[in-house]
Amino acid sequence: MEVEKQDKLNTVLIPEKQANWQGRPEWFFNRAHTDTYELWYEGRYKRAEVWQKKVMEQLVSKDPRIKTLLEFGCGTTRFTRWWKEIGIEATGGDISPLMLSQAIHLFDGDLVNADSHHMPFKDNTFDALAFITTFEYYKDPVQVIREAARVARCGIAMGMMNRNSPKVARRRVQQVFGKNPFYVTATFYTPAKLMAIIDKALKGRDYTVEWTCTGLPKWFPVQQWNVPVGDFFGLYVQLND
Ligand SMILES: C[S@@+](CC[C@H](N)C(=O)[O-])C[C@H]1O[C@@H](n2cnc3c(N)ncnc32)[C@H](O)[C@@H]1O
Repeated sequence: MEVEKQDKLNTVLIPEKQANWQGRPEWFFNRAHTDTYELWYEGRYKRAEVWQKKVMEQLVSKDPRIKTLLEFGCGTTRFTRWWKEIGIEATGGDISPLMLSQAIHLFDGDLVNADSHHMPFKDNTFDALAFITTFEYYKDPVQVIREAARVARCGIAMGMMNRNSPKVARRRVQQVFGKNPFYVTATFYTPAKLMAIIDKALKGRDYTVEWTCTGLPKWFPVQQWNVPVGDFFGLYVQLND
C-alpha cells in the first residue's frame, strides 16, 4: 500500500472556517477547544506537566530496549515532541484532524490520523506504545491495550488522570454547570482499575507492571510517591515474551 505523505508546510488539514468535525460533540472535534489546547500547558498546568514528564521518563527509561515509540492520542504533540529529549524517536497518532491540524506545525516527526482501537500498523512496528491523558476517552480499553501490545515489541507507557484525586469531584461539579467540556465522555481510572483491564487484555502474555503517582498539592511534602493518590499516575507495562 502506498502511503500518502502530506507537505506539512503547505497543508491545511481542516479549513479554519470549519468549527466542528463531522458534527461530533466531543471537545476534541471542536475548534473552540482544540485551537487553544496548547495554552493550557503554558498556564497553571505548567508545574503538573514537569512532574508528569519526570514520572514518564523514570518509568520508560528503566527499559533500555525503548528506542522508538508510537504515541496514540498525541493531540497537539506536547509529549510526542518531548520524547526525543530522552533519546526516543517518536511518531504520533490521533483520531482528531483538528488536534492534528495543530500538531503538524509543532512536531517534525510522522503523524497518523487514526483511532487507537484500530492502529494502522503491522505487528511489532515500534519498541513501545504510549498513551498520555487519552486512555480516559477510549470506549473499549481492553481492545486498545491489545492493539498496543500487538504494535509494540517491548512495552506500553501510560500516563493519565487518577480517579483517586479530589480534582475528579471538582471537575464533575464544573461539568454539571456546563463549565468543563473536557471530561464529559471521560472514564477515570485508578492504578488498580487500570491493572485489572491490562490483566484481562494481556491474558497469557508474560509482562510486568510498574506505576507511580504525582499531581500532589504544591504544599505537600512530596510531589511523587507510590501511593495510589494524586491527580496523575504513570504506568509502564514491560512485555517480557
Ligand atoms: C486530553 S488530549 C491529550 C493529548 C496529548 N496526549 C497531551 O497529553 O497533551 C486527548 C487526545 O486523545 C485523542 N483521542 C480521543 N479518543 C481517541 C481515539 N479513540 N483514538 C485516538 N485518539 C483519540 C483526542 O483527539 C485528543 O487529542
